Amino acid sequence: MCGIVGFNGHKNGIPKIIKGLESLEYRGYDSAGIAYINNERITIKKEKGRIKNLKDLITEKENAYLGIGHTRWATHGEPTKENAHPHQQGKFTLVHNGIIENYMELQKILKDKHYAFISQTDTEVACALIDYYYQKDANIKMAILNASKQMRGAFAFGIICEDDKETLYAIRKTSPLIIAKSKDGNFIASDVPAILEFTNEYFLLNDLELAEITKDNITFYNEELKEIKKESSLFEGNLEASQKGGYEHFMLKEIHEQDEIIKNTIACYYDGTIASLDKSFPDLTKFNKIDIVACGSAYHTGLCAKSFIENYANIPVNVEVASEYRYKKCFYDKNTLVILVSQSGETADTLAALRKAKKDGITTLAIVNVVGSNIAREADYTLYIKAGCEIAVATTKAYLAQVAMFSLLAIYLGYKKGLIQEEELIEINKDIKNLPKMIRKTIDNDLYFKIADQIYENKNIFFIGRGLDYALCMEGSLKLKEISYINSVAYQAGELKHGTISLIEKDTPVIALSTEDELREKTISNIKEAKSRGAKVIYVTNKIPEEKFYDEIITIEKIHPILQSILTMIPLQLMSYKVAKNKNCDIDKPRNLAKSVTVE
Ligand code: F6R
Repeated sequence: MCGIVGFNGHKNGIPKIIKGLESLEYRGYDSAGIAYINNERITIKKEKGRIKNLKDLITEKENAYLGIGHTRWATHGEPTKENAHPHQQGKFTLVHNGIIENYMELQKILKDKHYAFISQTDTEVACALIDYYYQKDANIKMAILNASKQMRGAFAFGIICEDDKETLYAIRKTSPLIIAKSKDGNFIASDVPAILEFTNEYFLLNDLELAEITKDNITFYNEELKEIKKESSLFEGNLEASQKGGYEHFMLKEIHEQDEIIKNTIACYYDGTIASLDKSFPDLTKFNKIDIVACGSAYHTGLCAKSFIENYANIPVNVEVASEYRYKKCFYDKNTLVILVSQSGETADTLAALRKAKKDGITTLAIVNVVGSNIAREADYTLYIKAGCEIAVATTKAYLAQVAMFSLLAIYLGYKKGLIQEEELIEINKDIKNLPKMIRKTIDNDLYFKIADQIYENKNIFFIGRGLDYALCMEGSLKLKEISYINSVAYQAGELKHGTISLIEKDTPVIALSTEDELREKTISNIKEAKSRGAKVIYVTNKIPEEKFYDEIITIEKIHPILQSILTMIPLQLMSYKVAKNKNCDIDKPRNLAKSVTVE
């Protein structure tokens, strides 16, 4: 999704803004632009494609103390130079992240007032609307607020006005935007990595709060234009966490961090005693039904959670994709807990599902990575997974930390309901202690790369499994297709013969997972069905079989079933990574994808 960086300070802001935009590249974009004030003039430069194209337009001589930069992820109109931000209308120049849902209606009104538009964007309409209000009473802050109240949808704006060349303005509704303070000046940014080289002190804006930013001061206003005071926050991570640290790609670095991350996630909530979980979690024992709502990989962690919570705590769990849940009839009541899972905490559909549940008076719990994000702030309860900054678009460490959080939740609920006994808890604790070492050992295995070298030229790759393994197949398949662009499908092993098996031909790779003892025999029968139709079977298991019905075998260590998925996922992540690398794909920024999906 679009990235915004703005600066107002005592030193040249152009390099800072460009650097900031580069650190937001992970969000996904197709054009980039900047507007800055130099010699009392507002200059706009923008170009299609990578930030490098924008940099080529800027000479070393150019110097500006105030500017706004943008990376655009196209929503309204093609990725062209005309549609790239910043946009200008009348006295105003602005950058925008989000979608203005009623922009056509507003555009029609503005056209009648003689505004003309050169781009196809909703952003240019927003800019004209602010100018329109400004023309009425010449009050910049009022104009921004009045226009913002007229717009439906989600937005974050960085705004400059020709009549006040000393000030940068910012406002947001639903889309993320932080305001940061450094010794050289003040910033606005869509996400923390953009400012980390300069400062780690930042402020969060609530919906329709306005920031007036000069070189030395930041003043906040509420939607009635009353001045308000805000406390700053300090980002806990460091700059190193947002750099590659010697790895070729962020994705590889993030996969390699997983032993430390999982250790940390678990240690933050659980010291081996149920008393620690009692302290960490809200009292969730009164709920007799759980809805888990999320998108993409986060949705897949919900599928793992369903298996954990139903099996260990005997509570029915319904897992739903957020874009469906927000519009469907929900059969929840006061005994239902709605859990929202989101790495970014900003995903528009998940946020809308949360708001729907809250509006209906249902208790909500958010499992989130990004501290202070909308979902984290709005839910009744929030558990942070503490996975640190995740830069690669394809999630790995945050996915695993979400799964670990659900394992803890199932242990807690299972124990409280008397379904996990003391002896079993001792076994689980032993495995939790060894888990980081086991994760490390699972990562440090070059077999996955060798197998990837054998399959990367295939056009179709299948993942099959039953039960919990099927939930992991869904994620394995998504990981592969999103970064390598290979068509891949995840199937319940027993379903294959009801249609999909017709797609299996000689040497079609079938990655077959089997880690649950009670389902193993059945899964093996299904694998044999695929094998006898020519499939190249890559068998991923925690028990070496006596019979050889596979072409390649990946063995992972056996661990308590409530923790097993954490290990099983790792080979799938690394195989996908190497397949994409062999195909020369843009691994950290796959085409068309965005890290934080703030539009519906
Ligand atoms: C895939 C991936 C996405 C996200 C999804 C939800 O690798 O990262 O499928 O899981 O867009 O994002 P969050 O978790 O930020 O709500």
